[in-house]
Amino acid sequence: MHRLAAAIATSLIATPALAQAPAPPPSPIAIVDAFQGAIGPFRGNRPSHAKGICASGSFTATPDGTRLSISPVFSGQAIPVIVRYGVGGAGPTAPDTARSTRGLSIRFQAPGGVVWDMANISVPIFGSPTPQALVEGLQARAPDPATGRPNPDRVAAYVAANPKTTQQGRWLAANLPPASWATTPYWGVNTFRFRGQDGEVRPARWVFEPVAGTERLTEEQMRSLPPDYLADDLRRRLAAGPVAYDMVLQFPGAGDDLNDPTVAWPDDRPRTRVGRLTVTAAEAAPGGPCHGISFMFLSQAPGVELSDDPTLRARQAAYAVSLLRRSQPQ
Ligand code: HEM
Repeated sequence: MHRLAAAIATSLIATPALAQAPAPPPSPIAIVDAFQGAIGPFRGNRPSHAKGICASGSFTATPDGTRLSISPVFSGQAIPVIVRYGVGGAGPTAPDTARSTRGLSIRFQAPGGVVWDMANISVPIFGSPTPQALVEGLQARAPDPATGRPNPDRVAAYVAANPKTTQQGRWLAANLPPASWATTPYWGVNTFRFRGQDGEVRPARWVFEPVAGTERLTEEQMRSLPPDYLADDLRRRLAAGPVAYDMVLQFPGAGDDLNDPTVAWPDDRPRTRVGRLTVTAAEAAPGGPCHGISFMFLSQAPGVELSDDPTLRARQAAYAVSLLRRSQPQ
């Protein structure tokens, strides 16, 4: 609760400075209200990636990771982690075969009480270039009181005015869904700043690449697999051995946009493997220790800092408000 209060206080303290900007970003409460307007009461669920399962394991940095970040998470020691695998969407019954994102959220628990949270998705780009566009998109998709459904004209007008918000949907249409939570890359999407042992600060994005390789469903499997097969698949794999991912940093080239998460950087940009995530066990049922975690950087360890990407900065307090709201009876 202390971390929650600190995050909300931080966002409130930041308000006067942000109010000088031409278009002030929406407040964390306005963001969470927009989710609620679109999907209804949270009823204990996350408004995004409501379906999921909690797991655990460890993270060990490579020597390059230790060189590139002074964070204790990258010390090279095995750091215990809590992981949440998710399925995109607001419903806890979202089908595992849908053309939506899969999530990999991680809480790193480094020595000395240093906690670092992150939430990653199985798509290299986000669906909104700014928090304002996200809020307006949710508002445009809120059910029309007359019909109980989103107004198609309102949605069409929003999409026409915000063409960048179609990019993630295009990517999902062009790529079949992951076959398993264990066989897809997960991107951090936003840009972060890594403070290295040499004192230099380097902008970077990350991806967790599956050691088992990337495998996608076939069209036939999308039709035939049960809607809840992912958790069983994960438990089956874990019974046979750990499920692992390599954390890889990608560095921008000249002209790459650091602040727009709807645009991926070209594949030929320099990359460095900075650690390995090893998942060893999964909970038997949804919930578990993940329920009370908002997988966002409430306490920032020095060594990996936020960039100026406005969608990244909006996430921090919005996740905290969301945790608060889904923890209250509705
Ligand atoms: C303006 C930008 C964004 C806003 C306002 C936002 C908002 C939220 C909120 C309110 C939640 C629910 C948190 C909770 O109740 O614990 C959530 C969950 C999530 N978001 Fe975002 N989000 C944003 C951008 C992103 C981006 C860029 C990614 C991709 C890396 C992402 C990935 C996720 C995932 C994976 C979850 C589920 C986390 C979990 O397993 O607990 N979000 N988001």
